[in-house]
Amino acid sequence: MPSYIHGETDPVEVARLEKQARFLTRWILDGVEAGPGARVLDLACGTGAMARRLLARLPDVHLIGSDLSRTQLKAARQQSPRLPLVSADAARLPFAAGTFDVVHWSWLLEHVQPAHAQKILSEVRRVVADTGCAWMTEVDNDSLAFWPRLPLVEECFRSLWRAQEQGGGDPIIGRKLQGLCALAGFTDVQVQPLTFHFHNGSPPGYFRAMLEEFAEILLSARESLPKELNARADQGAAQLTALDGTPGASFTYTCFRVRAAR
Ligand SMILES: C[S@@+](CC[C@H](N)C(=O)[O-])C[C@H]1O[C@@H](n2cnc3c(N)ncnc32)[C@H](O)[C@@H]1O
Repeated sequence: MPSYIHGETDPVEVARLEKQARFLTRWILDGVEAGPGARVLDLACGTGAMARRLLARLPDVHLIGSDLSRTQLKAARQQSPRLPLVSADAARLPFAAGTFDVVHWSWLLEHVQPAHAQKILSEVRRVVADTGCAWMTEVDNDSLAFWPRLPLVEECFRSLWRAQEQGGGDPIIGRKLQGLCALAGFTDVQVQPLTFHFHNGSPPGYFRAMLEEFAEILLSARESLPKELNARADQGAAQLTALDGTPGASFTYTCFRVRAAR
């Protein structure tokens, strides 16, 4: 199994996922619709950070969370004792064909090998009802860019994405989703690039929040960095967040959201 780049499910990681979900929900869950009584699966729910947001937006659906990691699910159970949770590999789901009206996930396929990603998409299609759909958001880490250039930070992230690939994950899975979904048999695949471009003139809080998000990603994955970069990860994170307030500074990142109808 690929190594999980963000390390242990400790309180710091739980808090990171919570903060990330709180910030990104406004974009990621936009347009994810399901009526009263609909059956919704939050796949690879991790600590349940997005599942809780889904339920807050769609309080009358039947929501289930599932994840491969028992430690992530344990954290999810502590945060949401009433949310039904199932331990399962997303490529082998313990649900009958057509069980769900909506299957949602965020940041899953970057953590699995390409062949496994294809199996997961086929399995998701199996458990989606004829009239249902899958909503997914995935990374395209090569798109990360900022101004002014920060050589240390750039080196850290390059090294991190390399480690992710070497560990069996895929840091540019987002751009491959249309092809993978089509191969899995989804009929109507709508791809939305979600580009974040923030600077000192962005709506209040956005630039800072995005910089902190990536600084926290860097710190959460620092054990994957070579020793000398690991030792400088705090410095890199500080340089990144200091872009907030730096005249002329900006941050750009694109991930991909896909709605795939069965
Ligand atoms: C970055 S976390 C994202 C969690 C959550 N979706 C969120 O946005 O907060 C990725 C999750 O994918 C899960 N995962 C990785 N491979 C999986 C697989 N094959 N089947 C199910 N879950 C998997 C990990 O255990 C982890 O909880």
